[in-house]
Amino acid sequence: MSASDPSVLVIGCGSIGERHVRTFLATGRAGVVGCDSRAAVREDMTNRYGIEAVSDWVPVLENPAVSGVVIATPAQSHMEIAIRCLQAGRHVLIEKPLALSLADTDRLVAARDRARRFAGVAYVLHFVPALQAARQFIQAGSLGPVRHVAVNTGQHFPFFRPAYREIYYRDRAQGGGAIQDALTHMANAIEWIVGPTTRVFCDAAHQVLEGVTVEDTVNATARNGPALVSYALNQFQAVNETRWDFHADTGSVRVEMNAQRWGVLARGETEWKWHAAPLAERDQIYAAQAAAFLDGTEGKPNPLCTLEEGIQTLRFNLAALQSWSENRPILP
Ligand SMILES: NC(=O)c1ccc[n+]([C@@H]2O[C@H](COP(=O)([O-])OP(=O)(O)OC[C@H]3O[C@@H](n4cnc5c(N)ncnc54)[C@H](O)[C@@H]3O)[C@@H](O)[C@H]2O)c1
Repeated sequence: MSASDPSVLVIGCGSIGERHVRTFLATGRAGVVGCDSRAAVREDMTNRYGIEAVSDWVPVLENPAVSGVVIATPAQSHMEIAIRCLQAGRHVLIEKPLALSLADTDRLVAARDRARRFAGVAYVLHFVPALQAARQFIQAGSLGPVRHVAVNTGQHFPFFRPAYREIYYRDRAQGGGAIQDALTHMANAIEWIVGPTTRVFCDAAHQVLEGVTVEDTVNATARNGPALVSYALNQFQAVNETRWDFHADTGSVRVEMNAQRWGVLARGETEWKWHAAPLAERDQIYAAQAAAFLDGTEGKPNPLCTLEEGIQTLRFNLAALQSWSENRPILP
């Protein structure tokens, strides 16, 4: 990092915010200032990463060296913070889900356009190497249009997120529950690959997780233009696995996230042709996302989820919740 490199302000240094702190530092292209309302978290950031950590983000916007802001607070505060940061002329990277309603999305887009700053949404699956490669292959079109997609995903939340009972996850009004917390990642990835969702029919339930009442299990069927999509997701299964199957006119593509590979089976063949797409460690995709954000702030092309795509996935989340509660298909 050189003295002229910008600094990034990370607001909310909890579970994912800490990862942003670490991975922005790992890019070697930016300094980091942390902000958290909890004193113990601030102390931790300073002790572990040697960064300044403050309790109030507003005065930090007076510092001209801070050119970008990562918003990693629970979802109900994303919009207000993002709009104020854009109005102060800062680039923003906003955690998912973008928000809990569509109420302020027009204001957010207007603030970005008026400020002429870069804004992205942290749907980090855009940086999974196997998914990136499969997307490129599918979109090149050699198998024809995708007609049917099946997404199967789950993990044991008590192992991966032991604090799930204490954080936003326990409360849908803070962005909690499996639909807004986890299904949203899958829906955004599918929209990124095959196009926006045009219809959703969703069922969900609290099946297993102790100490919460929000849904931990979801089945959804959707249409994304000409493609029919099914999602099966839970947050209690023993095995940590995510698999995407894309069936096109003349063949199929499979992505196995945990095996870090993707494969193609064209009609007439009997064996998958696998391609390895290794991930050295989990931080790698977040460091790639951080670098993409810095590229975006410099006007360079990058694969980050755009605001428009984040708003589209917010429509999916809201449609899925409405479909579940009203027991009918919804057009997002
Ligand atoms: N992309 C991913 O892989 C991923 C993973 C986990 C969480 N998330 C998202 O990131 C967001 C945060 O999730 P988390 O798991 O880190 O939650 P968390 O509860 O662990 O951390 C949130 C932190 O924000 C702080 N905070 C809240 N309001 C604040 C404010 N106004 N000013 C300063 N600090 C404030 C809290 O003290 C807390 O430390 C959520 O929107 C969540 O959906 C994304």
